[in-house]
Amino acid sequence: MNSVGPPPNPRRSAQSTDRGGSRPLPPPQEVAKILSKRLKSRPTLAIVLGSGFSEVAEHLDRPTNLPYSALPGFPRPGVPGHEGRLLCGQLGGATLVLLSGRSHYYEGHSLDQVTFPIRVLAAFGIRAILLTNAAGGIHRKLRSGVFMRLTDHINAIGENPLRGLLQEGSPTFVDLSQVYDKDLGRFLQTAARRERIVLRSGVYLAVSGPSYETPAEIRAFARLGADAVGMSTVPEAIVARQCGLRVAGLSCITNLAAGRSRHPVSHEEVLDAGARSGADAARLLSAFAQLYAASDVTR
Ligand code: HPA
Repeated sequence: MNSVGPPPNPRRSAQSTDRGGSRPLPPPQEVAKILSKRLKSRPTLAIVLGSGFSEVAEHLDRPTNLPYSALPGFPRPGVPGHEGRLLCGQLGGATLVLLSGRSHYYEGHSLDQVTFPIRVLAAFGIRAILLTNAAGGIHRKLRSGVFMRLTDHINAIGENPLRGLLQEGSPTFVDLSQVYDKDLGRFLQTAARRERIVLRSGVYLAVSGPSYETPAEIRAFARLGADAVGMSTVPEAIVARQCGLRVAGLSCITNLAAGRSRHPVSHEEVLDAGARSGADAARLLSAFAQLYAASDVTR
C-alpha cells in the first residue's frame, strides 16, 4: 500500500549535505593570497558564468584551473548546469578570471556565502566584473536566445547582502544609482554589433527562487519596470559595488517568463536554451574582453 503523507523535509534528510555552508568564512584577503600563489598573471577583469554561459570556459587559452574546493569559503554549486571552478587564461586576447558556476541563495547559502567570491576577486586585484545569468523574458521583445545587457536591477530577493556586515574600511550605505558601468555596457553593445548578435538592454529583477514565478507575479514585475527575471546576479552586483568594482551584467534569455507562453517554465528548458546560446555567448564575451583589454578604463 502506498503510504500517503508529507514528503521528507529535505533540510533534515541525510542527503542534505554541507556544501561548505555552515563554516565561518575566512578573510577574503587570505583566499586572494592563494590565488596570487596559484595564478601566474594579475588580470583586472573577471566574468562570472551563469547557466547558458559555461561553454565560454572551453574557449579560454592556456587556462589555469582551480576547483572551488581548493578555495576556502567558495561554496560548491549544487545545481546541474553550474560547475564549480575558477579559471584564469586568455579570452579574445585578454587575460581574465572566469568563475565557472556560482552558488545561489535558493540552494540554502546565505548571501554572505553567495557573494564571498566577489570579495576574494576584489582583494586579488580584479577591478571590473561581468556578471552573466539565465533569465526569463518579461518584456515582449525578450524571447529565448536573445541577450540582454543590464541597465539596472530590482532586488526582490527580500534580503540585502550588506546587511550585518559592518566592516571598517567598507562603505555600508552603498550608492546604487549607477550599478552597471556605462563604459562596460558600451563594450557589450559594440561587441554584439561586431558579432552580429542581438543584444537588448533592460532591467533585471532578482527573486529568491527556487520556484518559478506565477503569471500574476510576472504581470506585477512588468508593472514595476522589470524586463527580465532571474535568481542571481543582484547580490553579487551590490557587493561588487561596495568593493568599488566596475560592474556589467548580461542575461541570456532562456524562456518566456511564466504566463507569457502556453508552456510551463522548466529548468530543463532553461538549460537547453542556454546550451543552444553557448557559441554566441562565447563570441560575445570574447569580443567584450578584447574591447576591455584595448581600453584604458581600469588604468
Ligand atoms: N524565472 C526565474 N529565473 C529564471 C527564469 C525564470 O523564468 N529563467 C531562467 N532563470
